[in-house]
Amino acid sequence: MKTSWAVEIAGMGSWTPPKVVTNDDLAARLDTSDEWITQRTGIRARHISADGETTLHLAEKAAREALAAADLTPADLDLIVVCTVTPEHTLPSTSCELQAALGCGWIPAFDLVAACSGFVYGLTTAAQFIHAGTAKTVLVVGAETMTRVTDQDDRATAILFGDAAGAAILRPATQAGREILAVNLGADGARAKMIWTPAGGSCLPASDTTVAERLHHMRMSGREVYKFAVTQMQTVLSQTLADAGVATDDVTLLIPHQSNLRIIESACDKIGIPMDRVMVNIDRYGNTSAASVPLAMCEAWRAGRIKRGDLVMMLGFGAGLTWGSALLRL
Ligand SMILES: CC(C)(COP(=O)(O)OP(=O)(O)OC[C@H]1O[C@@H](n2cnc3c(N)ncnc32)[C@H](O)[C@@H]1OP(=O)(O)O)[C@@H](O)C(=O)NCCC(=O)NCCS
Repeated sequence: MKTSWAVEIAGMGSWTPPKVVTNDDLAARLDTSDEWITQRTGIRARHISADGETTLHLAEKAAREALAAADLTPADLDLIVVCTVTPEHTLPSTSCELQAALGCGWIPAFDLVAACSGFVYGLTTAAQFIHAGTAKTVLVVGAETMTRVTDQDDRATAILFGDAAGAAILRPATQAGREILAVNLGADGARAKMIWTPAGGSCLPASDTTVAERLHHMRMSGREVYKFAVTQMQTVLSQTLADAGVATDDVTLLIPHQSNLRIIESACDKIGIPMDRVMVNIDRYGNTSAASVPLAMCEAWRAGRIKRGDLVMMLGFGAGLTWGSALLRL
């Protein structure tokens, strides 16, 4: 959908817990190998939260860094959106706890659940508040402690995920040309159980049985997700470029969700974006769900791979199944 919203990213921040777990570390306790993980996924290491390093803790670190980058303080914010599937508590929202941790006033705060597409959904939501004039300075955070909900004894999923947070401050564009040109969000709920957590919700509340049967861990049909992701990422990318009337060659950098290097390479090959214009950091972080896109974008910005005036495409894909893309001029 073509948007032309005069909204800019004022600053970004990210944070990952210091502890790094390599493929060899995993191979020491699981029936897997560095070679298998690297070849199938592109992942070499991931960051893991220690005790006390919670989703809120990660979110606050990333948020404070984004505020500093934007030269703003918590008092300047008038809305907080936290995108997460691993909230601090199931009740209340992590965004409310973040509001208190940052010391903001009584500004609205809510969580948004769209898994690995979360940040693109969150950015789109925040941009619409600004476009509508109901908010001026919005903090959007993607924060996850995926290793807390992953079965660390399941080699099919334990190898994939890591913990991180990424944050952005959105505000009305301060210079002409800075804008969100097009967005596309989508979901297919019929595929909900391709990535899901069976217990802990109203359908199957926690009990001795759910714990004994390990039903609080995430389950995933990896092969089916893989196939659908390649096609859908390609489709949503093409649609967003077409909506904005922008050619593939004009995009400075594509920032895709980092779930599997082969998925990224395959989708980019089909759409004709060379890999030197694609941000990849999955080798160091694995899949960090809603944190993945802002973490990658923040790194790219810091490294000088993107600068003001560039066209940047964000692309998310994840549980739901959900997907989303946003094309913006920085
Ligand atoms: C998970 C994923 C890496 C698995 O790769 P794959 O090539 O599809 O592998 P398969 O699941 O078909 O399994 C192939 C074999 O490897 C085995 N295997 C699975 N995990 C393994 C591991 N960590 N180490 C070694 N072998 C493993 C399987 O048991 C299977 O063995 P079998 O042939 O004897 O039955 C891949 O499917 C994937 O990345 N899917 C998308 C996941 C995703 O992105 N999820 C999040 C979306 S946001």
